[in-house]
Amino acid sequence: MDASENRLNEVLGITQDILQVQDLDVLLERILSAARKFTNANAGSIYLREGDTLIFSFTQNDTLQAKLPPGKKMIYSTFTLPISHETISGYVASTGEILNLRDVYDIPEDKPYSFGRKFDEASGYRSKSMLTFPIKTRSGEVIGVLQLINALDENKVSTPFRAEDEPLINHFANNAALSIERAQMTRAIIMRMIKMAELRDPKETGGHVNRVAAFAVEIYEQWARKKGMDEETIQSHRDILRMAAMLHDVGKIAIADSILKKPARLTPEERTVMEQHTILGAKLFLERYSDFDEASMQVAIDHHEKWDGTGYPGYVDVATGEPLPGYETEDNGARRKKAEEISAFGRVVAIADVYDALSNRRSYKEPWGEDQVFETLLADSGSHFDPDMIDAFFESIDVIRSIAKRYLG
Ligand code: C2E
Ligand code: SIN
Ligand code: SIN
Ligand code: SIN
Ligand code: FE
Ligand code: FE
Repeated sequence: MDASENRLNEVLGITQDILQVQDLDVLLERILSAARKFTNANAGSIYLREGDTLIFSFTQNDTLQAKLPPGKKMIYSTFTLPISHETISGYVASTGEILNLRDVYDIPEDKPYSFGRKFDEASGYRSKSMLTFPIKTRSGEVIGVLQLINALDENKVSTPFRAEDEPLINHFANNAALSIERAQMTRAIIMRMIKMAELRDPKETGGHVNRVAAFAVEIYEQWARKKGMDEETIQSHRDILRMAAMLHDVGKIAIADSILKKPARLTPEERTVMEQHTILGAKLFLERYSDFDEASMQVAIDHHEKWDGTGYPGYVDVATGEPLPGYETEDNGARRKKAEEISAFGRVVAIADVYDALSNRRSYKEPWGEDQVFETLLADSGSHFDPDMIDAFFESIDVIRSIAKRYLG
């Protein structure tokens, strides 16, 4: 067995461990939605702990959401808070206590924490009642904080959170902790897998992989909603697509550094080798045990196919790389897939991948300006890319830009 096959097998082993595990971002969304539903909270946020800071990781706000056009998402920027007694969430993270406040604008002077009104002032939102509780593991370690804002009564007026709900919320938080830990581990495993394989400079690869996955999920959601796909299906597809998209180039592990990192354009021979990364990646998921394997296989094999049938690798047997029977072309190649023969996940990752490749530096090219990137995507709509998905891309452009900022480098 040669070295590249060894590395592939290593990855294969680890990939088995991440079967069926939920993606972290999707998980946070579900946890927050469930907790808000339970308490009838108008808004809420999740902070995750990293060392001695809290990272504002996810937020929802029905009032602010309602001011946006249908289907649009709230744009928010992430920020960090120190774990200290001065902020509400910092206090909860450091003491491990639940804080149930009737009005955050009326916190007694003798409390160590106070409410920062910056977000309210910027958004015009009035935070009043607030229930903030720690997300604790079984060993008692606080891994995050869940904050619910404005419990609404039947007249949609903010009322205090019910003290009798606290034990149930606690129970809920304990279960959330388990899933979050698992999802964090999964993401860490995927990132480690990519680093371990020395695919790239770790920082650069982490950025590309995370961005492509986050872009793909946004474009897919917008596209699927317009197609009338039901919300539950969209959410479960988001979950598997996100991780599958992170692995779109995993087959590059088996490509020699002399080609992968060449600081110049590839020769036709090198290009032929490079194109194998689609098949090599798909091979990892040949034994399709789960929806996640199936999705990862589709993304790996389809992400360089083109809408007009001029992409690669076409209809090949993933195990051998040979054309599938009946799909041979005269020049001993495989007939290319076109239009909807290409999986939706493959089509959406194609857009996310090219958008990111053009916008950033590569060993063989400098970053392009946004105008030029947009022109290319538009010009290639209907030839390289699924035109409906290009529409979905531009409709989601604000969120896309915020993701690009979040995962710099
Ligand atoms: P990648 O760098 O992630 O690029 C993904 C895709 O973005 C490319 O797929 C291509 O469709 C698009 N793209 C990237 N840069 C440009 C560009 O300057 N102009 C245009 N019009 N499109 C661009 P493609 O071509 O199938 O390449 C797949 C992978 O092969 C690339 O992934 C990269 O890792 C490698 N590669 C491709 N061409 C070269 C090259 O000239 N030199 C080196 N060293 N690697 C290359
Ligand atoms: C918090 O402290 O929990 C967030 C709101 C603030 O900035 O005070
Ligand atoms: C990648 O495309 O996988 C890494 C980005 C790079 O070419 O440096
Ligand atoms: C995400 O990463 O899926 C959320 C994007 C955002 O709302 O900024
Ligand atoms: Fe690729
Ligand atoms: Fe890529």
